[in-house]
Amino acid sequence: MEELNHFLENSREEIQKANDLRALDSLRVLYLGKKGEVTQLLKKLSEIPENQRAAEGKRVNLLKNELKKLIEARKKELHELEIEERLVEEKIDVTLPGRRSGSGGLHPITRTIERMEDFFVSLGFEVVEGPEIEDDYHNFGALNIPEHHPARAMHDTFYINSSSVLRTHTSPVQVRVMENRKPPLRVICPGRVYRCDSDLTHSPMFHQVEGLFIDQRCSLGQLKGLIQDFLQSFFEKEDLSVRFRPSYFPFTEPSAEVDIQCVKCSGEGCRICSRTGWLEVMGCGMVNPKVFDNCGIDRNRFSGFAFGMGVERLAMLRYGINDLRLNFDNDLRFLSQFS
Ligand code: PHE
Repeated sequence: MEELNHFLENSREEIQKANDLRALDSLRVLYLGKKGEVTQLLKKLSEIPENQRAAEGKRVNLLKNELKKLIEARKKELHELEIEERLVEEKIDVTLPGRRSGSGGLHPITRTIERMEDFFVSLGFEVVEGPEIEDDYHNFGALNIPEHHPARAMHDTFYINSSSVLRTHTSPVQVRVMENRKPPLRVICPGRVYRCDSDLTHSPMFHQVEGLFIDQRCSLGQLKGLIQDFLQSFFEKEDLSVRFRPSYFPFTEPSAEVDIQCVKCSGEGCRICSRTGWLEVMGCGMVNPKVFDNCGIDRNRFSGFAFGMGVERLAMLRYGINDLRLNFDNDLRFLSQFS
């Protein structure tokens, strides 16, 4: 009996010393497991004289139950300790100031396109998009640029195969509109275009916004007024000088290139405008009746005008961006200036 008491006291201490559930479980196995010490004691009962066996058995069973209780109690304690520890560890101070994440912004090219769209949409134009991989016919043929026409050389085309190209301008979108709808038409066509050209002022991919206006009576005067209004609004300069220089495009007749007074030197002459005081910003003209014929529009009933401009160039002039490559580098030091 003394031995059992001693054993119980020892175990009680050990159990209290167990610092985690794993250590506690090892003790449980040590005392009560299949080969545990108490289990051994129970087995040994058979060796005890019969008249003492019942009393001894009772004692061992009491010991066993007592150990079970001790282990359970310690288990509960450890659980509670664990929860307390976690509560301390995971404490959140809800009064701390929040971590700010900076807000992003639109890319200057996107912003520029949206500015252009806003102006024309306010005048009733609709924004239309089309495929970047075009067939030869929509990019060239329908626009009065037949095969072997020297104008094709101006476009430095990326050919995908003998009949498909990466569009060199967004004019094919306008062809698709003319083929599929009836005039009057007022659309602008923004999008990526591709030319096999790469140097300080040319990138193989850039963006254009082109416009098309078709109605029963359209005049060059309307075209000039619209373009002048657009440029003065885009550059936010009411007295911005705009001039139209005769030019040539196969799909317009007559054609013109549009210059604005240099935004850097206001016409004095500087490095940006090559000392001319003028900057070329877009092409335009009255739709060539041959294009109407190609697209199924009656050249005797309708006339129209079209214009096209490079977005990167206008964005650079407006925001004072001095290197074309900045538009494509994704350098946050540059981009965050537009957020
Ligand atoms: N498509 C021409 C270009 O890419 C621009 C343009 C459009 C010129 C419409 C005149 C009329 O260069």
